[in-house]
Amino acid sequence: MCSRTLIGEETPSQDAKMLSPEERQEIEAELARYPAKQAVTIDALLIVQKHRGWVSDETLKDLAAFLGMTVEDLDGVATFYNLIFRKPVGRHVVTVCDSVSCWIMGYEKIRRRLTKDLGIELGQTTSDGRFTLLPIVCLGTCDHAPAMMVGRDLYRDLTPEKLQGILEKYR
Ligand code: FES
Repeated sequence: MCSRTLIGEETPSQDAKMLSPEERQEIEAELARYPAKQAVTIDALLIVQKHRGWVSDETLKDLAAFLGMTVEDLDGVATFYNLIFRKPVGRHVVTVCDSVSCWIMGYEKIRRRLTKDLGIELGQTTSDGRFTLLPIVCLGTCDHAPAMMVGRDLYRDLTPEKLQGILEKYR
């Protein structure tokens, strides 16, 4: 039986609060390319996420201090950019487009099959930590709707029948 974990349930052991030397080094390499620290905000968040899987409140505070920004401003960027995860996520994040073209072309059938096959609702993570399922706005491939991404991989012209084979690729 599949128990569920809301992505809002934080796991403290997953997060060392302070930026690691490696993260700082990678962010500094980005900083060298831009005139202002704030210009690397999204890149810096993505670097942290690459190392930790998500960006905790504590890490956000440390990163804001490092970039000379307020926590509120940095959180505003992180919250606006929907591929920055502010809560723990699974090994693979499935983002399914719920914007208008996908909606018209069968989003609801795709969502229903995904939630059935994964045993979770949107916003949840499977108990084995394999998948997190999230909605996302237009992926920019409306002429091949409905569409979704698994991590960085884009899948288009989806049908419910194609989903099982796609998910099987991700262990
Ligand atoms: S509406 Fe889904 S890709 Fe544009």
